[in-house]
Amino acid sequence: MSYIIAENLFKEYGNGDSIVAAISNINFKIASGEFVGVMGESGAGKSTLLSIMGAMNSPTSGGYIVGDIDVYALSQEQQADFRREFLGFVFQSYHLVSYLTVLENVLLPLTTVKAGRKKKQAMAKEALASMGLDGKFHRLPNQISGGEKERVAIARAIVNDPPVLLADEPTGNLDTKTTHEVMELFQRINKEGMTIIMVTHSAECAEYTQRILRICDGRLLEEDKSVKKVSAQGFKKPPETKAA
Ligand SMILES: Nc1ncnc2c1ncn2[C@@H]1O[C@H](COP(=O)(O)OP(=O)(O)OP(=O)(O)O)[C@@H](O)[C@H]1O
Ligand SMILES: [Mg+2]
Repeated sequence: MSYIIAENLFKEYGNGDSIVAAISNINFKIASGEFVGVMGESGAGKSTLLSIMGAMNSPTSGGYIVGDIDVYALSQEQQADFRREFLGFVFQSYHLVSYLTVLENVLLPLTTVKAGRKKKQAMAKEALASMGLDGKFHRLPNQISGGEKERVAIARAIVNDPPVLLADEPTGNLDTKTTHEVMELFQRINKEGMTIIMVTHSAECAEYTQRILRICDGRLLEEDKSVKKVSAQGFKKPPETKAA
């Protein structure tokens, strides 16, 4: 059953004379529990697509559904709730807060979670431990290696146990050994049920995924054959949308 549905997604940046069509007419479906790679040349539109999937960047037109939620029909506030509840993000540049410790960085997504301090600490420590980071809880980001930062970023992305993990070139700055370690972590998380969408330039990383969405000049090249073309007449909202 499809869990994520993208229908006729378009995104244009700019205005007037300088419009860039970053993605055009993208359609795909992703089942719950899939591990999907997104590949394509620099400038192809991969990060744009991922940011749309992350409820961080409204498409110019088209539909984006997760579960029974029509994401861009939600208010800004509901989108923020959706991000918190449904999504984990791993960015290429880690985005760790430099003046917070490793543990405090992983506690960040739990700020709005209704749970006691002890419970949150336990969740954060468990996520870090699952990334092999016991003993590094109280270091600052500049006191750990690049590969460790990456794993802190992953721990932070999964601490809330979101159903969907979005990762934009998560191993872009890592050596081969650490890259394989991170990919094995992703595979493990995926086997435990998390749906993962990962942008990558690396054929080695792509091998860990179950299928690839290949993007060229904003268009999807190798479309999942089961995706049926939807008409260009617009996108129907489901009868009910719910805020996460
Ligand atoms: N905020 C923006 N304003 C204007 N143009 C943008 C913006 N963000 C991206 N673009 C343009 O949209 C196109 C797609 O960019 P995007 O960042 O999605 O590519 P990408 O596939 O992630 O590339 P890379 O592999 O280099 O990260 C590019 O032509 C880019 O210049
Ligand atoms: Mg990018």
